[in-house]
Amino acid sequence: MMPPSSGSGLIIRQKEPVNLETPLDQVDSFLTPAELFYVRSHFPAPKLTIAKYRLEIAGAVNESFTLTYQELREMPTETRPATLECAGNCRVFLVPQVPGAQWELGAVGTAEWTGVPLATLLERAGVDADACEVVLEGADRGNPTEPPVPPGPISYARSLPRSKALKPEVLIAYQMNGRELRPDHGFPVRAIVPGHFGMASVKWLTRIEAVREPFRGYFQTSDYAYWDYFNGMPVRRALGEMHLKSEIFRPRVYETLPVNRVYDVFGAAWAGETEVTEIALSTDAGRTWTKGEFQDPIQPHAWRRWSCEWLTPKEPGKYTLLARAKDARGRVQPYHHDPNNGSYVIDYPVPIEVYVGD
Ligand code: MTE
Repeated sequence: MMPPSSGSGLIIRQKEPVNLETPLDQVDSFLTPAELFYVRSHFPAPKLTIAKYRLEIAGAVNESFTLTYQELREMPTETRPATLECAGNCRVFLVPQVPGAQWELGAVGTAEWTGVPLATLLERAGVDADACEVVLEGADRGNPTEPPVPPGPISYARSLPRSKALKPEVLIAYQMNGRELRPDHGFPVRAIVPGHFGMASVKWLTRIEAVREPFRGYFQTSDYAYWDYFNGMPVRRALGEMHLKSEIFRPRVYETLPVNRVYDVFGAAWAGETEVTEIALSTDAGRTWTKGEFQDPIQPHAWRRWSCEWLTPKEPGKYTLLARAKDARGRVQPYHHDPNNGSYVIDYPVPIEVYVGD
């Protein structure tokens, strides 16, 4: 296996706030090294310190309380892998072009997260019977630019349905791959919501609030939302669970491969709350499909790397590769982007065009 090359680094999508993409063709390991893990931030990273850090648990609870970093570290912890994918990952493939960070394939990664289950904190606080959601708020603040813009600066905040907030996999994490979180990944403490798009995993987490009515904040309704139907009428809903998806990490887009040679096409596939069970590769733009092999066993909320051998054609030219996954619920990736998802949820097999020739 190829370790990430020493010269490798992240790809800049935006300088400030920092938005960086993983060069996935250089990642072979199941866990994405922290220094190569994509960064998606809406506002500049707040400068928090361990000494001054406080986490408040409040709202519709029996007893609110505040934890220091040390108190959080002393609580029983869990370590689990989880794949995070930004809901805007692969946006650059949408035609016509849409606004937003032009992510290629690398706004996704898998890390091992260590922290205290959110459920432990909520149980200690005693969530009221009529609380329907739990709002997670970060310490970063700013003015979003996409209309409708709020009247003043806001913090990054997202809510989780009560049922998901109480699931054992949701962590209040302080370590990534066995090390302190890096500043851009939410130091010192962030939420990790396995199975949901990355926007749910609030970084620089300072407040957890149980609420009695659905939270309608900017990042819940204007941004990171989609059009659904209620009694035939379009309604705006918050994005949540990640969709079934597969990606080709190697070859890279527009890479040139030699003719008549066996090439190991390599990638990963993931699903939200279910498991990926099958992967297929097409090297002729979707006319025929070959089953690929998984390299990783099924693990909840984590991607499975896969590979599939391709004997490159004798005929030089441009070829279109597609990967398509199937999950344990029997679903396959759709053929087209759903316009109701706007510039999010790009879950159709994106075309990886390569050249074969000498
Ligand atoms: N949390 C805060 N406080 N501020 C943010 O801008 N971005 C979210 C989420 N948590 C964000 C945040 C989005 S959109 C994603 S995809 C993930 O963080 C990315 O996590 P990462 O930067 O550690 O990869």
